[in-house]
Amino acid sequence: MVLTFYAHATYTIILDEKHVLIDPFFTGNPIFEKDPTLAQSYLNDLPADFILVTHTHHDHASDVESIAKRTGATVISNHEIAFYFAGKGLKTIGLNYGSFIDFEFGKLKYVWAAHSSTFEDGTYGGNPGGFVLQTDQGNVYMAGDTALTQEMKLIPLFTELDLAVLPIGGVFTMGPIEAVIASDFVGCDRVLGVHYDTFPSIIIDHEVARGIFTERGKELILLGFGESLEV
Ligand code: NI
Ligand code: MN
Repeated sequence: MVLTFYAHATYTIILDEKHVLIDPFFTGNPIFEKDPTLAQSYLNDLPADFILVTHTHHDHASDVESIAKRTGATVISNHEIAFYFAGKGLKTIGLNYGSFIDFEFGKLKYVWAAHSSTFEDGTYGGNPGGFVLQTDQGNVYMAGDTALTQEMKLIPLFTELDLAVLPIGGVFTMGPIEAVIASDFVGCDRVLGVHYDTFPSIIIDHEVARGIFTERGKELILLGFGESLEV
């Protein structure tokens, strides 16, 4: 299983030739201001068989519709978000907090996130969440936007994680100090940090953040734009 990070909290997991794109945010993403043609090339060319949406804030959902329309990808999210995008003519599957569901690429569970979820037009976006992905090639927790929450302790009761993708920029989500505790809660010492440096308010010191993890014998991975890791 390969994970490619694009920017902010947008990444793709590729397994068994299926491309699972998470929270696509290219349009209006300040990271691409210096190189708008790169954002456009992602919008034009990025493959997607499934698009996972953790919640509806624009920095997670701005390009769901256009990429799903171009690729024919199935949108997987909570019931309200799935219903919204079905109304736009997209293929959708709506979940809620509960159990693992079987997909072509693996098993997926929608899990609690301590955050909010409203579309830009004011439409209710259901409860925000994250996803736990279980596959024969490894298991990944995609936290979405969330504060540190006790609910994370439920995840290792069901899944032995190989990677936790956690937000670390603070202000809207956990910062590194919370994220290192989250990694304890979910039982995973290998963390990919996301949701930092995109906006002025969430710029972090990378060395300080990495140090918070290494002090505890953990690894915080910060990928460059377009870089990949093997899960
Ligand atoms: Ni958000
Ligand atoms: Mn966000």
